[in-house]
Amino acid sequence: MEPAHYSDCHPCQVELEQVLGLGVAPSRIIFANPYKAISHLQYAARHGVQLLTFDSEEELTKVAQHHPKARLVLRLRTKDKESIFPLSDKFGASLEVCEHLLKSARDLGLTVVGNSFHVGSDCKNPQNFTQAIADCRRIFEMGRGLGHDMNLLDIGGGFPGVEGSEPEVSQPGLQDRDFPEGTGVEVIAEPGCFYVASACTAAVNIIAKKAVLEPGGCARPGQGHRKLLYYLNEGHYGIFRIFLRDPVPRKPIVVKKLCSEEPIFPCILYGPTCDAGDKLFMEEVQLPELDVGDWLIFPSMGAYTSVMSSTFNGFLPAAICYTMGPELRCLPGRALTTKSCGLSSGVPWCSINTLLPTLAPAEL
Ligand SMILES: Cc1ncc(COP(=O)(O)O)c(C=O)c1O
Repeated sequence: MEPAHYSDCHPCQVELEQVLGLGVAPSRIIFANPYKAISHLQYAARHGVQLLTFDSEEELTKVAQHHPKARLVLRLRTKDKESIFPLSDKFGASLEVCEHLLKSARDLGLTVVGNSFHVGSDCKNPQNFTQAIADCRRIFEMGRGLGHDMNLLDIGGGFPGVEGSEPEVSQPGLQDRDFPEGTGVEVIAEPGCFYVASACTAAVNIIAKKAVLEPGGCARPGQGHRKLLYYLNEGHYGIFRIFLRDPVPRKPIVVKKLCSEEPIFPCILYGPTCDAGDKLFMEEVQLPELDVGDWLIFPSMGAYTSVMSSTFNGFLPAAICYTMGPELRCLPGRALTTKSCGLSSGVPWCSINTLLPTLAPAEL
C-alpha cells in the first residue's frame, strides 16, 4: 500500500472553493459526496477537480454529461451499524451492484480509478474496515477485468478522535493481504473526527432552572421524586445537535466546589429556544444541585458541533475563545484566560484544557 496525501471535500462547491483557495492543487482533491448538484459538478470540471465519488447509475449519467473527464471512485456500502453515526443507509453501492456500475461507467465512456468507503463516524468495530477493504479488493478485480485502471483506495473516515475511545484492532495486517506493497495502489483516508474531536472544549452556562416533583420515588416521602431541569444558553440548535445521537449521554464537568457527599439528582439539560425538543439528551443525566450562573464544561467538542449551529429563535452562534491553562500562563503573550470567555477567573476548569479553542455561547 502506498499512502498518499489528498484533501477530501465532502459536501459542496463552497468547500471546494475553500480548499482551492488554500492553494491545494486540484489533482490532490477528492470531491467525496456521491450526490452532487449539477452546478457543483460543473464547477469541479471547470477548476480541474477530477476525482469524484459515485454510487449510482443516475449519478453516472450526470457525470457523463457535465464532467466527462472525471476520474471516478466507486463508493462501497459498508457494515456500520455499530458506528455512532452510520452512513451506509444514505451512501454507498452494495457489493452486488458494483460490477453493473463499473460496466455502466465503461459504457458511458467514463474512467473509474478506484474505490472508497466510509464505515460510519466513530467506528466501534475495526472488522468493518477489514471487511470493506477485502470487498474493495474484489471490486478492484472486477474493475480491472472491465478495463478500468484501478489504482486508488480511499478508506474514508470513522477513526475515533477522543483518546481512549479507540477500538482494539484484532486482525492487523489484513489490508496488506488485500493490497500488498508494491502493487502501485495509492491509499488515502478522510479523517475528520480523528483530527478535530478533541480540539475544542465547550463552556455553557445555566441561565435558568426548575425543580419538579415527579410522582413516585422516595426522596421525600409523600412528595415524590425531585428532578431538576436546567436551561442552558446553548442547546440542540446550537453546538449540541449531534448529542441526541449519542447512545449514552455525555456527562459534563461541573465548575463548582462541591462537597464530596453532595446529593445527585436526575436532571434534564434543555437548550434556550422555544422548542420543547431542544434538549441535549433524550435521557436524564445525574448531576448535583446547581444554580443559575454555574458553568458546565463539555470536552471533545471539536467535531460536528459549531459547524452545525443555527440561529433559530435569534440565539447567536457560540463564540470561539482561546484559553490557556495555568501551566502555560508564564508564557509571553498570554492574553486570553477564562475571563475573556465570560467565566470568572480562578474557576478550576482552566486546568482541564491547556491551549484549546473554547466554544462559549455569545450571550449569557
Ligand atoms: C465522505 C466523508 N469523508 C469523511 C468524513 C469524516 O468522517 P469522520 O469524522 O468519521 O472521520 C465524512 C463524515 O461524514 C464523510 O461523509
